[in-house]
Amino acid sequence: MNFELKALSLAAASKLRTDTLIVLISDQFQAGQDPLSALISKAIKAKDFSSKSGQMLQAYASPGISASKVIFLGISKGTPQDIKSGLNALIPSLKASETQALCLVSTDSGNAQRIQSLLVSLADGTYVYGTTQSKPVSRSLRQVTLALPSVTAALETAFKTTVAMIRGIELAKEWANRPANHATPSMLGKAAQALAKSAAISCEVLGPKDVAKLGMGSFMSVAQGSAEPLRFIVLKYQGGAKTDAPTVLVGKGITFDTGGISLKPAPEMDEMKYDMGGAASVLGVFHSLSQIKPKINVVGLIPACENMPDGLAVKPGDVVTSMSGQTIEILNTDAEGRLILCDALTYAERFKPKAVIDIATLTGACVIALGAVRSGMFATEDDLAHRLQQAGDDANDLCWRLPLDDAYSEALKSNFADVANVGGRAGGAITAAKFLHRFAKKYPWAHLDIAGTAWKGGAAKGATGRPVGLLLHYLLSQASTATKSPK
Ligand code: BES
Ligand code: MN
Ligand code: ZN
Repeated sequence: MNFELKALSLAAASKLRTDTLIVLISDQFQAGQDPLSALISKAIKAKDFSSKSGQMLQAYASPGISASKVIFLGISKGTPQDIKSGLNALIPSLKASETQALCLVSTDSGNAQRIQSLLVSLADGTYVYGTTQSKPVSRSLRQVTLALPSVTAALETAFKTTVAMIRGIELAKEWANRPANHATPSMLGKAAQALAKSAAISCEVLGPKDVAKLGMGSFMSVAQGSAEPLRFIVLKYQGGAKTDAPTVLVGKGITFDTGGISLKPAPEMDEMKYDMGGAASVLGVFHSLSQIKPKINVVGLIPACENMPDGLAVKPGDVVTSMSGQTIEILNTDAEGRLILCDALTYAERFKPKAVIDIATLTGACVIALGAVRSGMFATEDDLAHRLQQAGDDANDLCWRLPLDDAYSEALKSNFADVANVGGRAGGAITAAKFLHRFAKKYPWAHLDIAGTAWKGGAAKGATGRPVGLLLHYLLSQASTATKSPK
C-alpha cells in the first residue's frame, strides 16, 4: 500500500479527480463556501447524516465535485477511538467495492496522533494475509492519499513515522499469521537476516552448537523434542554513537507450542502458531527502525524453537541448568516461554543495556486478567513503567502494569532445583514474570505479556501486529530525549 500526504482545502478537495473521496466530519465541522460543504450541510439539515462516529453517507457524481464517489464519515470528537470506530464502519464497503485508491480528507489538520490513528486503523482494517493460499489474495486498496488543510514539518514527520510503523506492524502480522511449517526457527532467522540488508542493521543467527557453547541449557531443553533445529537471533540497530547503551528487546519465538509432554488439548491448538508473536514484534520494530532511522541503539534477541512432545523431549520433573547457572525444575513443559526467555535475558547482560524489555505470549492467565484490550506490563523501575504506559497510550496500543512483589515467588519453590518453572494457577501471569525476574537482575527490566493482545479470535481470526506500536513509541521517545541538548 502506498501512502501520500497532501495539503488540500475542502474547496480544493472538491476539484480533486479521484475515484473515492472520503471526507471526515467531526463534531466541530464548520461549513465553508465549497460544494462539499454545501452537500454535507444539506444532509445534516435533512437529518440524513450526523458527525457521530461511524455515520456514513455516500454520494455519486455530485455537482461541483470531481470525484466520482464521495463518502462522508462521522468521527465524533476525533479521538483515536472515534476514528477507529468510524473507519471500522467504512471498511466493509471499501472491501466490497474493491476500492483501489482513495483520498481521506480531514477538515482540520489535527495533530500527529490524528494522522496515526487514521492511517493505522485504515491499514489494519484492510490488511489481508495472502502467503499460503494457492491463488494470490491481496488487499485491493493500493493508494491512500491523506489530505489536510495544511501540512507542517511536524505533521510531515508524523506521517513518515506512521507509515514506517505500519510497515513494521504488517511484517509482524505476516510472521505471526504464517503457519508453523511456513515459519520455522530457521525461516525466522532468514527473515531477520533479510532485515540486515538495511545499512543500520546487522544480524547474527546462532544454531544449536553455538547455543550449547553459551550454556543455554534451559533454552536447549525446550528445543530438544523437535526435529527443527533451534535458532538464536541477534539483531542490532545502530543509529546512535557506538558508546550509547542500547535498549534490548527480547521476543519469545516459540514457532509452535504443543505444550510438549504436558500436551495441550486439541481445540484451538492451531492458534499456538502465534506463540512467536513476541519475536514477530521484534522483527517488525527493526523493520520500522530501518526506515525511521532514529539516533538510538537497539538490540533484538529472539530465541526460536518448537515445543514438541517426543521420545527425546524434556519431561516433567527434569532439572536443567540455565546460562545463568541457576538450575530449573521443569514441572510443566507447557511453561516453555520462560525457559527460552531466561537464557536470552542472561545473554542480554553483555550489552550493558539501558533497559531490557521482553515481549512474550507468555500466559493464558494474562488473557484471563486483561483480555484482548491491554497487554500485561511488568517493570522493575517506575520510570520505565510510566514510559511504557505512555508509549502504549500514544500508540493506542495499550498496556497495564501488574505487580512484581517478591511474595509471588513463593509459588516457584522447588525441592530439587533452585527454582520451579511453574507456580499454581493463582496469579499465573505474575508468577511467570517473577520467574523471569530472577534472570533480569543486572539492568532495568520490563516484561510485556501479549498472550491476549497479539492475536484475535473469531471470524477475523489473525495476528494484530501488537505491540509494535507501543515499542516504537517507547524507543522514539528515547530518541527525542537523547537529542535534547543539556542546558
Ligand atoms: N503460549 C502459552 C500461553 C498462551 C496461552 C498464549 C493462550 C496465548 C494464548 C504458554 O506457553 C503456556 O502454555 N502457558 C501456560 C503456563 C502454565 C502451564 C503455567 C498457560 O498459560 O496455561
Ligand atoms: Mn506453553
Ligand atoms: Zn507458549
